[in-house]
Amino acid sequence: MCGIVGHVANTPSQRPREVVLDGLARLEYRGYDSAGIALASGGGLEAIRAVGKLANLREAIDGAGPDDALAGIGHTRWATHGRPTVTNAHPHRSEDGAFALVHNGIIENADALRARLIDDGASFASETDTEVVVHLIQRAYDDPATPAWDGDIAGADEATAPAARRLVAAMRAVADILEGTFTLLVVTEHAPGLVVAARRSSPLVVGLGENENFLGSDVLAFVEHTSRAVEIGQDHVVAVTADGVTVIDPSGAVVPLKEYEVDFASDRATKGDWPTFMDKEINEQPRGVADTLADRLDSHGHLTLDEIRIPEYILRGVDKIVMLGCGTASYAGQVARYAIEHWCRIPVEVELSSEFRYRDPVVTEKTLVIAISQSGETMDTIQAIRHAREQGARVVAVVNTPGSTISRESDAVLLTHAGPEIAVASTKAFTAQVTACYILGLYLAQVRGNKYAEEIADYMDKLAEAPAKIQWILDRAETVRQFARTMVDASSVIYLGRHVGFPVALEGALKLKEICYIHAEGFAAGELKHGPIALVDDGQPVIVIVPTPRRAELHNKVLANIQEVRARGARTILVAEEGDSSVDAFADIVFRIPPTPTLYAPLLAVVPLQIFACELATAKGLDVDQPRNLAKSVTVE
Ligand code: F6R
Repeated sequence: MCGIVGHVANTPSQRPREVVLDGLARLEYRGYDSAGIALASGGGLEAIRAVGKLANLREAIDGAGPDDALAGIGHTRWATHGRPTVTNAHPHRSEDGAFALVHNGIIENADALRARLIDDGASFASETDTEVVVHLIQRAYDDPATPAWDGDIAGADEATAPAARRLVAAMRAVADILEGTFTLLVVTEHAPGLVVAARRSSPLVVGLGENENFLGSDVLAFVEHTSRAVEIGQDHVVAVTADGVTVIDPSGAVVPLKEYEVDFASDRATKGDWPTFMDKEINEQPRGVADTLADRLDSHGHLTLDEIRIPEYILRGVDKIVMLGCGTASYAGQVARYAIEHWCRIPVEVELSSEFRYRDPVVTEKTLVIAISQSGETMDTIQAIRHAREQGARVVAVVNTPGSTISRESDAVLLTHAGPEIAVASTKAFTAQVTACYILGLYLAQVRGNKYAEEIADYMDKLAEAPAKIQWILDRAETVRQFARTMVDASSVIYLGRHVGFPVALEGALKLKEICYIHAEGFAAGELKHGPIALVDDGQPVIVIVPTPRRAELHNKVLANIQEVRARGARTILVAEEGDSSVDAFADIVFRIPPTPTLYAPLLAVVPLQIFACELATAKGLDVDQPRNLAKSVTVE
């Protein structure tokens, strides 16, 4: 939520304005209701802001801004405090105009701080919490009583160093009195070749270049320029010049850089010839699942997970698993629960991260928490794992973003290798998360002795067939697309599933809501008769995930549920196995998937639902990748 970019150059020819704008374009999925940029040069600061998508900012800039800028910061906003207007857009300026600041997060004590500043004679142009911070920074910078910071600023020349030290001191003093979450980036006319940043519970990474350095909410902001990234820890302040990066911990000490290599090519984050990122990402699922599965078995058929740094005796003692996630990630957890309970015989609870800590959950040192997150930055999940760890639980993170907060704050990490997901609606992250959770479940079964090595190898072999089966569905997507185009006038769609089909129904309905703006609900098929069937009327579209006919007890019950809705006039759209002709008589249309073991069926059944939503949104003329009101990576609670 909110994308932040910074760039510091050695010479203006490195073009901070363009670097920042290109970085914002790559982060636009994090927020797109307004955007802005500030550039620092010898001549002072210049800030330009515009409402709406980044294209509007580019138009507003149209070559404007100083040509001799040495540093730039930019922001693409998802509004929290104040409507999306130009005055509320970032960057915000200090009262004297000498500082410009961008912010991601929420300052919880902004109202009290604003009141204090107003008493002190300050005036405000915007309704934002951010403007409070930049006013405070100016005052702290100008105030001789601000505790000095007199360490070395890497790469700062004699002209820059004194101002840089004062700005670091001001940032530390202000960060100290702020409550809430923030990533802050500030530039100043006092030291044009400098960006000073701070973070608490919001994302920030630094990119190391040659004679230039970068900052971003995530590595996508700068992956085009460098693959060398540096993690910034909680409550750390960082001073970035073109030739150096200085990270300062809360005690004021300089800490060594924690560098890592970004392991995906920058073209994985571009759309290529695909009409939308969502189309591209749906079609990348065979690769995402295959990459997530790669190199997991040793020559003896034993699963090896290097990233699990929890001793085996602790895993053997686990008496409960809690899976945490939000939205699509939580549905991935719901799918995985069926497999993990079946394989490991451990009770598994699936909790929405945002609810978890408020119900005083029973969590002990014998609880294993599995936190699922594509971004690794979802604030609800971060807070939930912090709560779980305080109670003594061990946390395994299933994340798609190396170096993210959730991966750093967990005891172990199992990376999904879906590659960067840019479309706001999650697709390839879901199938990779489900795959990673299966691997984790099998690993636990191995460690705890619930399954023999050959059984695990057999489960893994069957799982390894999933990428080709997903490709089979993608190759036949035209049936789904054609049907989706006939549904542009639908105002409500019901999704039904039983057993592992139930979370798939929830996920299918979520896709339709978020990108087609059509009311959609997923129900457990057996639950319909307990109330929701009253919604079914003539012509009501009902999408049903049909279990394999090899599980007759499930299959027959779902067929009965289909007949119940058809008897009330529903149009039934079925997702069913190739070769299952028993469904034909009850279907207006069937989307086929290849036969697969029941527990793995969600990896396949979800794909037609993703294609359906994507095509329907396209047919409605909607913005598939950036649906209204949403943003990817939800970094506020
Ligand atoms: C839906 C969607 C969201 C995310 C949720 C969690 O398509 O994308 O529901 O799944 O916000 O995000 P992560 O996985 O980044 O924690």
